[in-house]
Amino acid sequence: MSTESTFNPEIETYARFPIRADHGKGVFLYDESGKEYIDLYGGHCVTILGHSPESVTKAISDQASKLIFYSNVVHSTIREEAASLLSSLSPFPKSKVFYCNSGTEANENAIKIAWQVTGKHHIIAIKGSFHGRTLASISATDSAKMHKTLTSERPTVHFADANDFESISALFAEFPIGAVILEPIQSMNGMYVIPQESLIFLRDLCDSNNALLIFDEVQTGVGRTGTFSYSEGVGVYPDVITMAKSLASGIPIGALITPESIATHIKQGDLGTTFGGGMVAMAAHKATLEEIVSGDLMTHATELFAYASQRSEALNIKIHGKGCLIGLELPFDTKDIRAQLLEKGFITGSSNVASIMRLMPPINTPIEIFKQFFDTLEILLSNKSH
Ligand SMILES: Cc1ncc(COP(=O)(O)O)c(C=O)c1O
Repeated sequence: MSTESTFNPEIETYARFPIRADHGKGVFLYDESGKEYIDLYGGHCVTILGHSPESVTKAISDQASKLIFYSNVVHSTIREEAASLLSSLSPFPKSKVFYCNSGTEANENAIKIAWQVTGKHHIIAIKGSFHGRTLASISATDSAKMHKTLTSERPTVHFADANDFESISALFAEFPIGAVILEPIQSMNGMYVIPQESLIFLRDLCDSNNALLIFDEVQTGVGRTGTFSYSEGVGVYPDVITMAKSLASGIPIGALITPESIATHIKQGDLGTTFGGGMVAMAAHKATLEEIVSGDLMTHATELFAYASQRSEALNIKIHGKGCLIGLELPFDTKDIRAQLLEKGFITGSSNVASIMRLMPPINTPIEIFKQFFDTLEILLSNKSH
């Protein structure tokens, strides 16, 4: 259906790919005319098993015909099973889980818990950050453009350079810092990987100042970077982990994960949401986690990155990220080459760094697909230099 001259009832949000999505299978997305795309944008970093994975669609449909929804005011076996699985995959010895509906909501609640546990209302966030669009999360997002509409009535956030230990220490000395929130890999900031030394430094500083360290693993989590939580791979453990996007293969979900020692501070009534933990979401979530584990897909994510690194090196492209969160840095703005890749059927993502394009493909993407992508990129780059 053409929308050119007709009224569009949707409020504008994102700039859109020139694609009218119709159906998908695995890494492939098809538009209404049947044109096939290789979706390395991963449906906005969500489709960790590819589009409409069979085990998940079956779990959704079985659950939907049984009971679509009831909130947390009732007990639910599917919710208990999903939460047990998530807890067992999470890095804390006894992880407790709160389910909500999105990444920003998980972060919002993480910040709220930090205030509650520490009694301190200042936060440190990292320059280049993106944590979502609700009040606390947007305040912790380093974007003047996104802050334009905010008043001063919002959380007090101090933005710090993750590598500037002196100024971070000075912030702790000057302000009652209750939390440090960070994305271990800043996806929108060109897949910038926060160095391990910075994470260790922040961990120590939070410990000695009664502040909570929050890892926003909305993108790095759920096995995408080779371990279920990024923290395991880097050996630095936060107090709260937030996840969303990939947790249920596309059914809206967010999760806040924290050890029992912190969860004991949270009393009944402190957290809540109508839809979080609903049965269909839980069925999709459980099936997604099961397939990640049974398919040993976290290992495959690491293999995909190794292949991408080797091809990038051969093409003189600087690669950023880990696992299936990949930033490819070219010596020029990637806009044109991404448009050419799209014409050839490859969907890729931009970032806030013009020279870095992002790939967030499913972690079960066959290596052969990466080969096709890099072969195509190689041809496009050589055409450009001639
Ligand atoms: C790192 C990170 N945190 C938080 C969010 C917000 O998640 P949501 O859009 O589900 O609210 C995003 C979304 O892109 C994200 O990438």
